[in-house]
Amino acid sequence: MEILVTGASGFLGTALCGRLESDGHRLVRLNSRICDLTRQGSLDPFDDRRYDQIYHLAAWTQAGDFCLRHPGQQWIINQQINTHVLAWWQSAQPQAKLIAMGTSCAYDPDLELVEENYLAGKPIESLFTYAMSKRMLYAGLVALGQQFALPYLCLVPSTLYGPAYHTDGRQMHFIFDLIRKVILGKECGMPVELWGDGHQRRELVYVDDFVEAAVRLAAAVEGKLVNVGAGEEFSIRHFARLICDRIGYDFEQVAFDTSRYVGARSKCLATARLHRLLPDWRQTPLGEGLDRTIDWFWTQREKLLNPHCAESPSPSGRGPG
Ligand SMILES: NC(=O)c1ccc[n+]([C@@H]2O[C@H](COP(=O)([O-])OP(=O)(O)OC[C@H]3O[C@@H](n4cnc5c(N)ncnc54)[C@H](OP(=O)(O)O)[C@@H]3O)[C@@H](O)[C@H]2O)c1
Repeated sequence: MEILVTGASGFLGTALCGRLESDGHRLVRLNSRICDLTRQGSLDPFDDRRYDQIYHLAAWTQAGDFCLRHPGQQWIINQQINTHVLAWWQSAQPQAKLIAMGTSCAYDPDLELVEENYLAGKPIESLFTYAMSKRMLYAGLVALGQQFALPYLCLVPSTLYGPAYHTDGRQMHFIFDLIRKVILGKECGMPVELWGDGHQRRELVYVDDFVEAAVRLAAAVEGKLVNVGAGEEFSIRHFARLICDRIGYDFEQVAFDTSRYVGARSKCLATARLHRLLPDWRQTPLGEGLDRTIDWFWTQREKLLNPHCAESPSPSGRGPG
């Protein structure tokens, strides 16, 4: 198939493009340097092909408190990106199925996180703008689907993890931040301090498992919103313990700062629809996924650890070998 991927240079985009290429598809991979989607007409140069699928992954966001500090910019930039992609799809590529990414933050935390509730109630205050721009993306898919009979699919991933995450210093999703802090505690003697009381609960999906689900759903499902979640969540304390055990750091040394921002107390996506559509979808066991992610961390130690470490980690430290 001919496939165009926006956000191809990101964490998910890299894994998705690897999979699509190994499946033998012809890809056009976009990022902000090749095609700044905030600019009207930025997609015009890619009109020379007729795409079978467009994966729309591009979004301007980061983890941590980034959304809290950039709500205005996030609104304008993400609305521009999404509007330009939707308009181009409708006008230039109406034969293509558009597979867009939603977010679990779009749900009202007081409601069940089931697909029928995606547009119901109000998202958590600290992520409001980002969440609403994702709701608007879904509203756009539905509207264009209705009026022009365009094929689409909207996937709602829970937090993704795995190797090949960012190494450029931006705010990290909690699991990567946790691994980094524990390694710095172990290797450099830095205090390991986590935000919140550690009882807030999170779910994780291994990035390649998400890609597997996305590719299969994109081939078979149309006109739907589908949550792609692990179906079970654990406390930050549980994740911290697993990581400490693997890295060889005493969990009792971990401190919890209850004055810091932690986001939602719990967010676990309902996955009945996913399992109805893909009954044989299997997930990488958490321990195995963490092992692979931690091994990758060690390969990136120069970029991820040394800037934070007064002295370089000792060469005898536990590495991937
Ligand atoms: N990672 C998760 O846990 C998670 C969870 C739920 C939903 N999602 C959604 O999944 C998608 C991919 O997430 P990710 O973690 O892979 O994000 P990411 O690593 O931050 O990647 C974002 C991508 O968007 C591109 N981009 C940003 N601004 C752009 C612009 N103005 N024009 C064109 N491209 C632009 C970036 O290009 P550059 O590299 O050039 O900046 C990059 O390729 C996003 O829509 C995100 O909301 C992710």
